[in-house]
Amino acid sequence: MISYTQLFASVCALASTAAALNPLEVSGKDFVDSKTQDRFQIIGVDYQPGGAAGFTKKLDPLSDADVCLRDAALMQRLGINTIRVYNLEPSLNHDECASIFNAAGIYMILDVSNPLAGGYLDRSAPWTTYSAIYYKQVFGVVEGFKNYDNVLGFFAGNEVINEDAHYLVPKYVRAIVRDMKDYIAKNSKRAIPVGYSAADIREILMDTAHYFECDLKNSTSSRSDFFGLNSYSWCGESSYKKSGFDVLTEDFTNATVPVFFSEYGCNEVQPRVFTEVQALYGEEMTQAFSGGLVYEWTQEKNDYGLVKVNDSNTVTTLVDYDNFEKQVNKLDMERITTSNVTQTSVKPEACSASLIKDKSFYNAWDLPEVPSKVADYIKNGLPDAPSGKFVSVSSTTIPQKVYDHTGKEITDIKFEVKSGVNAPSSDSGSSETSDSSDETSNAGSLNGTPSLALGGAGALFMLLVSLL
Ligand SMILES: *[C@@H]1O[C@H](CO)[C@@H](O)[C@H](O)[C@H]1NC(C)=O
Ligand SMILES: *[C@@H]1O[C@H](CO)[C@@H](O)[C@H](O)[C@H]1NC(C)=O
Ligand SMILES: *[C@@H]1O[C@H](CO)[C@@H](O)[C@H](O)[C@H]1NC(C)=O
Ligand SMILES: *[C@@H]1O[C@H](CO)[C@@H](O)[C@H](O)[C@H]1NC(C)=O
Repeated sequence: MISYTQLFASVCALASTAAALNPLEVSGKDFVDSKTQDRFQIIGVDYQPGGAAGFTKKLDPLSDADVCLRDAALMQRLGINTIRVYNLEPSLNHDECASIFNAAGIYMILDVSNPLAGGYLDRSAPWTTYSAIYYKQVFGVVEGFKNYDNVLGFFAGNEVINEDAHYLVPKYVRAIVRDMKDYIAKNSKRAIPVGYSAADIREILMDTAHYFECDLKNSTSSRSDFFGLNSYSWCGESSYKKSGFDVLTEDFTNATVPVFFSEYGCNEVQPRVFTEVQALYGEEMTQAFSGGLVYEWTQEKNDYGLVKVNDSNTVTTLVDYDNFEKQVNKLDMERITTSNVTQTSVKPEACSASLIKDKSFYNAWDLPEVPSKVADYIKNGLPDAPSGKFVSVSSTTIPQKVYDHTGKEITDIKFEVKSGVNAPSSDSGSSETSDSSDETSNAGSLNGTPSLALGGAGALFMLLVSLL
């Protein structure tokens, strides 16, 4: 016999799947909510349970719903609004995990490459892998995820340009951005943003940013929509100046796309105290940056985790988890989400060799032509590629046991279905105000997704009838 509480929980869950997160879009150098136009800053975490080595063609980080539900619940408590996932297998079903993170109020930024053969661009000889084989992976990820409203964007590459890279690599990566954006324009209902995630190699950092963000008259789609930077220069109780964050802010002050830390959280001083959070979301930096993602969710061999997964049934939240939570709870979400017309009205610069300062950095934009088979994929869609869709999230209880870093069990963790973006639990009460405005805007999004809305409302109706 199903209890009233259980029934009520599932009514709420079904109802919520109708109210997807509003898609985000790029406006000048900010991410904004496509319905409310509120500014969106990433309060994120990099998500690869099991590490890069844990990825296989049978299991990726978004294919096990029990794990996603557990992690989404723990992330909600932390105030996370975005995850980044590095390695994905297009043939797997991601509907449950995508729906769980969506219901949790959490967006996803997805890398399109993976480390298996044919899954990445070879940085030492990019022309050898710029081919239809690689594009089965790239477009496969786009196909698989294009229907989920909570996809914030795709990374066309991660740290491909580094000391080992051939000097022609930039133009191949820019060509991948072009091909992905052309594919999305032709085959997706929504213009999902595409960007690049750079290593923090200061000598070429600004050249890399300019190379991707400049406007090319004869190939406008090759322009990146955003720029991610993997930055580990703030260690322990550092400062805005000592860490070099002041230089980064100055460097990116004239950026014409949203810029954010696609990885941050130096672990040279342990435990991590995350004092950089106040700088990153503070008044000086928010003009240049749209937040960032902490590296990384689970504890792996390299020692960057916020939580430790002991086995499939128990999780421990580490000291770093608590320290990060304390920092984000101090943030002024009202200020962070206020839109600013100076920010949203910036215009791109034109591509020109004068933008590139380092002699070793490629300074021309003669992009490689799209291979003919890849052009076919763009025109007609990738054949036999599965596309995902949202499903009802019916479970709100977490089957796993959770312990804090002292070994004490935490019993109050549950997955909460949100009507808008997840936010840190500050005391200011401002998150409640933004929740109610999100509900209004979700009513609008129902029109855009009629099948989901009907499914949710229909199921809600039937459950209510069965109650009478
Ligand atoms: C940013 O643009 C302003 C105005 O054009 C200019 O004065 C300044 O030097 C630029 N800053 C950088 C770091 O390029
Ligand atoms: C999880 O692992 C840690 C150390 O690896 C251990 O101290 C702790 O007791 C484990 N917790 C559970 C619930 O198994
Ligand atoms: C809007 O952004 C500009 C820089 O892009 C900044 O100088 C200004 O202070 C911001 N305005 C508000 C109200 O935050
Ligand atoms: C597009 O413009 C760039 C920069 O001016 C140039 O190098 C490239 O050859 C042009 N491409 C085509 C196909 O005309």
